[in-house]
Amino acid sequence: VTEAEHVLPFSDDLEAAARGLLPSAVFAFIAGGAGHERTVLRNRAAFDDYRLLPRTLVDVTRVDTSVELFTRRHAAPLLVAPMGTHRLVHPDGEHATTRGASAAGVDLIASTASSLPMEVTAPLGTHPGWFQLYVYKDRSITGDLVDRAAAAGFDALCVTVDTPVLGDRRRDRRERFTAREDIVWANLLPYAAGALPDVQDGSVVSSYIAQQLDASLTIADLTWLVERSSLPVVVKGVLDPADADRCVSAGAGAVMVSNHGGRQLDRSVSSLEALPAVVEALGPDVPVILDGGIRDASDVVIALALGARAVTVGRPVLWALACGGADGVERFLAELRQDLERSMQVLGRRGVGELDHSVLRHARSTDSTTRSTR
Ligand SMILES: Cc1cc2nc3c(=O)[nH]c(=O)nc-3n(C[C@H](O)[C@H](O)[C@H](O)COP(=O)(O)O)c2cc1C
Repeated sequence: VTEAEHVLPFSDDLEAAARGLLPSAVFAFIAGGAGHERTVLRNRAAFDDYRLLPRTLVDVTRVDTSVELFTRRHAAPLLVAPMGTHRLVHPDGEHATTRGASAAGVDLIASTASSLPMEVTAPLGTHPGWFQLYVYKDRSITGDLVDRAAAAGFDALCVTVDTPVLGDRRRDRRERFTAREDIVWANLLPYAAGALPDVQDGSVVSSYIAQQLDASLTIADLTWLVERSSLPVVVKGVLDPADADRCVSAGAGAVMVSNHGGRQLDRSVSSLEALPAVVEALGPDVPVILDGGIRDASDVVIALALGARAVTVGRPVLWALACGGADGVERFLAELRQDLERSMQVLGRRGVGELDHSVLRHARSTDSTTRSTR
């Protein structure tokens, strides 16, 4: 993939440039979502419901963007969302993403479906970050992945629970995204489950998930996982506050409010809309992470003001990887961090703890002249 040096490290610019660089089926696979993709749009549009209210005459010479998650202090309330097969967009794959994110001081959540094994990527950055786990029907595989993640030094196990089957990715069907030759799930190569099915028509990912992942997953399995894992368990893919409550009762250490970037269910509630009720259900002591639609610092501010401890960023990191490899990822995340710091200074908030409801005004109550076009 050629460098796109003229591209500014903003997510829209990166996406436009990546669109020009990537094969159309790969671009569609990343950008796309379930059904008519209304959830993908809603995940972004939900942020437009808010305006920010700056506070002045505050000494903001220094602001502190750091947050604590599982005894580790992160320089910024940011993580890279788990995404499979980075080699689809850049030959250096997760190697480049891990190095770039680490250089920007941001931890990455390594996907089960990575194109490089966790034992290779974990030592690349200054810190291994978290490991995202899909639960296999074959519990010996699941258990082995859990042990390997602990041995590789990850801080937490992030179990994805919103994928009993793969969502209806219509763009993939239209583009005939089978991509069997390009997709290697390196973490699974030691097991029989490492072999992807031979699918000529339809999605190889969808067939794989139907064959290997456990659609019968329940709270009892989460309890088993929490007992089985020496690492704290974060549950990814929760929207309903009652589910969040059940996860924490089963021993989960944190919850990630997510609809899988709109890739699972059309017309789903957006993750930002779902966030406040989950925060309220869990109280201040359980970290809640917002995943989906984060594109710039104002989005991070809104999510934190609504109670998220941190946020994850998905697609823009892959666009940055496609455009500039490790350097591209570093530039994008470093810019996001700087932008957050600057935003907090202009907002008159010296620490992330000061980003609360006082920062927000609901757009509908402030906009008397401009009507939203949504
Ligand atoms: C190409 C791609 C691959 C993904 N692979 C995974 C995965 O392996 N495991 C997982 O839990 N989520 C996966 N996701 C979902 C992301 O972790 C995250 O929920 C979503 O991208 C967040 O939305 P955003 O892209 O708007 O930031 C993937 C998303 C994309 C775009």
